[in-house]
Amino acid sequence: MQTWRATAIGSANIALIKYWGNRDHVLRLPSNSSLSMNLAALTTTTTVEFRSDLADDVVTIDDVEATGSARERVIAHLDRVRALANINAKASVISHNNFPAGTGLASSASAFAALTAAACVAAGLQLSADALSRLARRASGSACRSVPGGFVLWDACDEDDCSFGRTIAPADHWDLTDVIAIVESAHKATGSTEGHALADTSPFQAVRVASTPGRLECCKAALLSRDFPALADVIEEDTLAMHAVMMTSAPSLLYWRPATLAVMQAVRAWRKDGLPVGFTIDAGPNVHCICTAQVVPQVEDLVRAIPGVQHVLVSGVGDACQLV
Ligand code: DP6
Repeated sequence: MQTWRATAIGSANIALIKYWGNRDHVLRLPSNSSLSMNLAALTTTTTVEFRSDLADDVVTIDDVEATGSARERVIAHLDRVRALANINAKASVISHNNFPAGTGLASSASAFAALTAAACVAAGLQLSADALSRLARRASGSACRSVPGGFVLWDACDEDDCSFGRTIAPADHWDLTDVIAIVESAHKATGSTEGHALADTSPFQAVRVASTPGRLECCKAALLSRDFPALADVIEEDTLAMHAVMMTSAPSLLYWRPATLAVMQAVRAWRKDGLPVGFTIDAGPNVHCICTAQVVPQVEDLVRAIPGVQHVLVSGVGDACQLV
């Protein structure tokens, strides 16, 4: 029996300027550029082994054999790698998330970044970081931003060739921290892939997409100059624009719970009182409170005290996806 094996670790990321909607759903070419920071404390470690003795791919996620659409999505990605490497061998994929299951936090970015890196090396491919990011994008858009490290810009670009994530500042550029208020741990009713497909049904999507470059430039400038007040304003504006599109899609997507709004309002009040903290929310009810490292203990205590907050996770800025 012949085997080819590799393991990679990838971190999740939180978008400061959101990706929502695709111009091309098959290639996952997004409607707009986005900007994120990797999350060091939220990682997926994945081992891929191509084995000549396997009759079929076997995918295990957090010690449970995957079935249905979760398995099919991994296999579709393995097929992309096999096509590039010109191999036919089936694979065993073993993946572990270090963040608690049932927190409702998405793992597709860290998972598909780690799967891409491990599968390519196991298949004998030597791809550049840009090419790996491009390939990860095909499995999950946000995964392309978890391939490079630190603060990452995904340029929407018109073509497959130029649509990938690039680092605009390394992880140690700024000690921003994500204090995540978990207000609901159940899996979301409508996943991101379905949500992207609905984005164009909202009358506000065109307006959001047209106004994203301005917010992206503000966010990039605030990040590069470490201007917290400007950063907080623009990330809140951007996440609210995305949720306005979600709420006005057909069917409407309303991800918030009462505690989501309670955290949002509290964050604004704390900032008014001088605390450097701003919020952003993905396709779910949990609130990511972005602050500087210095005020993390204070923000954490304040967030925990809000009724309806079930757990709090804290993460600094993460590095690039790497082989282990
Ligand atoms: C709201 O990358 O999870 O988190 O490409 O279908 O896997 P797929 O979607 P995904 O979408 C992320 C949406 C978001 C915003 C963001 O991360 O930019």
